[in-house]
Amino acid sequence: MELWLDTASVDEVRAASRFGVISGITTNPSLWAKSGGGREYRDVVLEIASIIDGPISAECLSQDVEGLVEEARRIAGWHPNVVVKIPIDENGLEAISRLSREGVKINTTLIFSTNQAMLAGQAGATYVSPFVGRLDDVGEEGMALVREIVEVFDRYNFPTRVLAASLRHPRHVVEAAKAGAHIATMPYAVFQAMFRHPLTDAGMKRFLEDGQRASGVKV
Ligand code: G3P
Repeated sequence: MELWLDTASVDEVRAASRFGVISGITTNPSLWAKSGGGREYRDVVLEIASIIDGPISAECLSQDVEGLVEEARRIAGWHPNVVVKIPIDENGLEAISRLSREGVKINTTLIFSTNQAMLAGQAGATYVSPFVGRLDDVGEEGMALVREIVEVFDRYNFPTRVLAASLRHPRHVVEAAKAGAHIATMPYAVFQAMFRHPLTDAGMKRFLEDGQRASGVKV
């Protein structure tokens, strides 16, 4: 499973990139606003593209089909690694079908059901993004949706990749991997939490102290 960062913060992308394990980025208008806004969305995406050599999702805001198609073509032209995010509704689905036939890579966002994922897959989307945390928020089991989409796509050999999104804590990342997601996109804080463990810290402290004692260094 690939690990992607869910952020529009260039600082976070830069900080995480040094570990060499992040292979893509997802952004959305809320993350853009959270990162401080002020800059053009295109400039932010292009700066991220200069740091991470992998897919970078940038979201469309148009509400009608023609607007979505036009905006998606424009966003796709920003950089070869840019993937256009389109929400799944009737207009979104029509736009996804048309754009996929032109070769535009689409990440279908705001997926909350397997039917929505199947429609996006049939329309030619490159990715579907089930929002795990938001389903958990309303009392459903978000990861069950990821599992079901993976099962259906596997059975019918859909080439569409399942991108587990709206992950809120490190356990979500493990569960996404167990569910067979192709990609997990996560906030920077969740990524940091993946490599921390108090027993690792305690173990390192003890090894250091024992090593110093063994070598005669006063601790
Ligand atoms: O990738 C989707 C993500 O940004 C949504 O996360 O925590 O707002 O549900 P959240």
